[in-house]
This record gives sequence, structure tokens and C-alpha cells, in this order.
Amino acid sequence: MGDSRETLGPRAFVTGFPIRHSRSPLIHGYWLKTLGLPGSYRAHEVAPEAFADFIHSLKDGSSGFAGGNVTIPHKELAFRLADKPDALSSELGASNTLWLEDGALHATNTDGRGFIANLDERHPGWDRHGTAVVFGAGGASRAIIQAVRDRGIKEIHVVNRTVERARELADRFGPRVRPHPAGALAEVMKGAGLFINTTSLGMDGEPAPQLDFSPLAADAVVTDIVYVPLKTPILTQAEEQGFSTVDGLGMLLHQAVPGFEKWFGQRPIVDAALRALIIADMDAH
Ligand code: ATR
Repeated sequence: MGDSRETLGPRAFVTGFPIRHSRSPLIHGYWLKTLGLPGSYRAHEVAPEAFADFIHSLKDGSSGFAGGNVTIPHKELAFRLADKPDALSSELGASNTLWLEDGALHATNTDGRGFIANLDERHPGWDRHGTAVVFGAGGASRAIIQAVRDRGIKEIHVVNRTVERARELADRFGPRVRPHPAGALAEVMKGAGLFINTTSLGMDGEPAPQLDFSPLAADAVVTDIVYVPLKTPILTQAEEQGFSTVDGLGMLLHQAVPGFEKWFGQRPIVDAALRALIIADMDAH
């Protein structure tokens, strides 16, 4: 017999391929428990060729799920198959959060909100400068660029090894987004108040280039969306050079908030105990 709270109440999922390393069940499980709410949240692996059928079963109610999170490689198809994607995910062309409402499958993307909420929590005032540098122009950079733009940052310099990808993002997100090749990094850093690493450099023990952050504004913040390891080589370098840093774990925690509220009806809090729980799990694996 499982906990009776799990068999009552709404059921939610996180789906991806593969999905077993996802920490989302820990996050939502923590909130269900601490808020004392009925419901469950489980990892549910779906192969790419089965994803359209899965969405169909979600829409017709046969899956029994109230909604869930979607991660790699399903975010684009989730957006395309949803009945009512919101404006944020329509501009991105990708959704990470789905819920049934009035018989329709709604979709949004909470990555950008998670990114901003993490900075607001850990470094209030991060947005006082008008310029930001986004390093990297891959899939993960999109929601970040959108969110930084929507927060009102006036110039967003996107620097990428493959400059064509940065140009595509400038076309998508408008004139405040300026594309540059990697060689322009030092130049565009001049006076910027925020540096965001969205590349995979330094992830999971991979090497990272030596970066000189000194052109940034003296009170600039350096952040990394990679959170394994928690302190990435890029964050270590920035700290050694005297800059404030914000790690990427809070983005993962905060992006989970809107989905939980949709499925289970209460807005949860990202607190120190949740952060400690995820760090302990990272240390154990
Ligand atoms: P994600 O969805 O995680 O963003 P991605 O779309 O493969 O993954 O993008 C990875 C990002 O890291 C890209 O900006 C990539 O640069 P390119 O577009 O030029 O490939 C960047 N990146 C990865 N390895 C890199 C390296 N060795 N040097 C510079 N940039 C690198």
C-alpha cells in the first residue's frame, strides 16, 4: 500500500527520453509532502516515436494525468501538439509545462521565469544595468534571451562560436538582441551588468575556456544555467576575479513552481530545505 495521498488527488508527470536522471519528482514530491496535498508526480519515459500517442492519451483523459513537465527531446513537439500554447511558448516554439483546463491541453514554458526568479532571489538588483551578455546560442539560450528581454534589459549581446545561430536568435527575438562571433566576447562585455553562460562548456567535468571578466561592470553578476557541478568552472573563475555569481540550481527549482500550482492548486515556495535536498541528491550520485 502506498501513501493514500498519492492515490487520491491529481497525477502529474515529467516526460523525456531518457528521463531517469530528472530531479523534478524530488522537487514536486517535496512540495506535495510539505504542503500536505493529495496527488502524485512521477517520471514517465516516452520514446520519441510514442510521444504523439502519449499527448493524445493526455487530451482524451485516458492517461489519467492532469498535466506535467516535458523535457528533452519532446519540448518542440509538445508545443506543436498542445491545443492552447501561450504567447511565451509560441515565440519559443517549445513548451515544458502542460495542463488540462476546460477540456483543452494548455502549454507554457517556465524556463525563463525560473531563470529570472532565481536571480531575483539570489541577487536582487541584478537588472540595474541595461546590458547583458549571453554566451551560447543553443536550445537552452532561447528562454533566457526571451526572459531577459521581457524583463526590460535594453541590449542583449549573444555571443556564439557559430555566429549564424546567434543571428537566428536575433531574428526571432528582435532588435534588442545583437549577434556576435566568439571573438567579440571581450568587446561586448564592456560595462555589461550580467553575464550568462548557456553553453555546455564546463558541464559535468568538461573543460571550460579561461575567461577574463574584467571588462564587465564592477558590480556585474555572472551566472551559469549548468548546475552540475553546482560551482562550474566559469563561476569559479568569475569569483576568483572578484565578481558576484549565481549558480543554476535555483532556475531548476523556480521553473517548477507554475506547473505545481496548475496541477495541485497551491503556489509552492522554493526554500533552503528544498535546495539542500537536491544538493544532497546530487552529492549522492
Ligand atoms: P543546449 O540545448 O544545451 O543549449 P545545444 O543546442 O547543443 O545545447 O547548444 C550548445 C551551446 O554550447 C551552443 O551555443 C554551442 O556553440 P555552437 O552553436 O557553436 O555549437 C556551445 N558550445 C558547445 N561546445 C562548445 C565549444 N567547445 N566551444 C564553444 N562553444 C561550444
